[in-house]
Amino acid sequence: MRLRLAAAHAQREREGLLRRVRTCEMLPGGRRMVGGRVLADFCGNDYLGLASHRELVAALTRAAASEGVGTGAAHLVSGHRGEHAALEEELADWTGRQRAVLFSTGVMANLGALQALLGAGAMPARDTALCVQDKLNHASLIDGAQLAGAELRRYPHADVAGAARQLEARPDLPALLATDGVFSMDGDIARLPALAALCRERNALLYVDDAHGLGVVGPQGAGAVAAAGLGSGEAHVLMGTLGKALGCAGAFVAGDADLMDAIVQFARPYIYTTAMPAAMAAATRAALRLVREDTEGRRERLAANIARFRAGATQLGLPLMPSDTAIQPVLLGETGTALAAARALERAGFLVVAIRPPTVPRGGARLRITLSATHTAERIDALLAALARIHLPVQALAV
Ligand SMILES: Cc1ncc(COP(=O)(O)O)c(C=O)c1O
Repeated sequence: MRLRLAAAHAQREREGLLRRVRTCEMLPGGRRMVGGRVLADFCGNDYLGLASHRELVAALTRAAASEGVGTGAAHLVSGHRGEHAALEEELADWTGRQRAVLFSTGVMANLGALQALLGAGAMPARDTALCVQDKLNHASLIDGAQLAGAELRRYPHADVAGAARQLEARPDLPALLATDGVFSMDGDIARLPALAALCRERNALLYVDDAHGLGVVGPQGAGAVAAAGLGSGEAHVLMGTLGKALGCAGAFVAGDADLMDAIVQFARPYIYTTAMPAAMAAATRAALRLVREDTEGRRERLAANIARFRAGATQLGLPLMPSDTAIQPVLLGETGTALAAARALERAGFLVVAIRPPTVPRGGARLRITLSATHTAERIDALLAALARIHLPVQALAV
């Protein structure tokens, strides 16, 4: 076993694909201390800058003082507290769904919900189900379908006709179509109205993972599904994470009561795990109030920052992708090019990571630059100036 692992490690190293954990200390103003240097963070998912907001910190410490730190049990045992129940109700209200169910992370939510909806737990053991997915979906959606034992069929990115073909391939099976709302590595938004129409026609459930849309797009920041005007009769299952724009940790799945009950009954990553700390639920409630009301104009500031970055990058001729969201990848192609660019940016004082295969397809290595409401115009301009200085191969991959 160790020999096989060592060989796999050596191969990753040869291909420049080795992953390393780095310790990044939080500093005020969206900066990080990394390896003794202060860097401006342009790679996180704290799109609204709420992760260190005083109201979240106050809610968390207040609740920890009364509730303790750990919940000490699963939701179905004795770990489900008033803060969890209130948060689930508020999430359901925000997204216009009958019920929301909390999970400890987004990965667990996707694994659990897909397992419950597609898996043998919810139907006679001999039955299998069809799960149709966009090729660029998050890894946890792909893994969820596979762990559920579903027949997984993928379609080319954003290709609704391709999705229809995959659904038609197995008309005999109960079907679910799963898609990211905002694609995590490309930043574009799924064609949700067209996918919803397709699912209606084929009598399939539509499952949307809106990890990167919630808080950022749509009315009251209610996400890509709300922006597309899709209710629970059209986008049947909505999954959202709490660790990105909401600045906390955890996730939820929302939809009609019968579907949510199936998840509570059959989702093993829900049933067999300790409930998230109640203090985290309290902090998330504070975040949700800030996101919905947005009296500080964070979404507007984020939109202005996205527009500023795109205008500057376009002027520089950088290979941007067609994204209007906070995720603004610069597509470089080769792994070595992306790594060299990330290192050069770091020398210039910016934390931007190179995203490499297998997270993105081979030949699709990129800088995944993300914008936040907390970035100042000066900092964005400084990043653009640094990008201009490192001479990226702009012609090679213009998109
Ligand atoms: C689209 C998408 N879904 C799910 C997740 C997982 O969420 P979490 O980090 O809460 O596990 C991510 C995380 O990056 C994501 O991008």
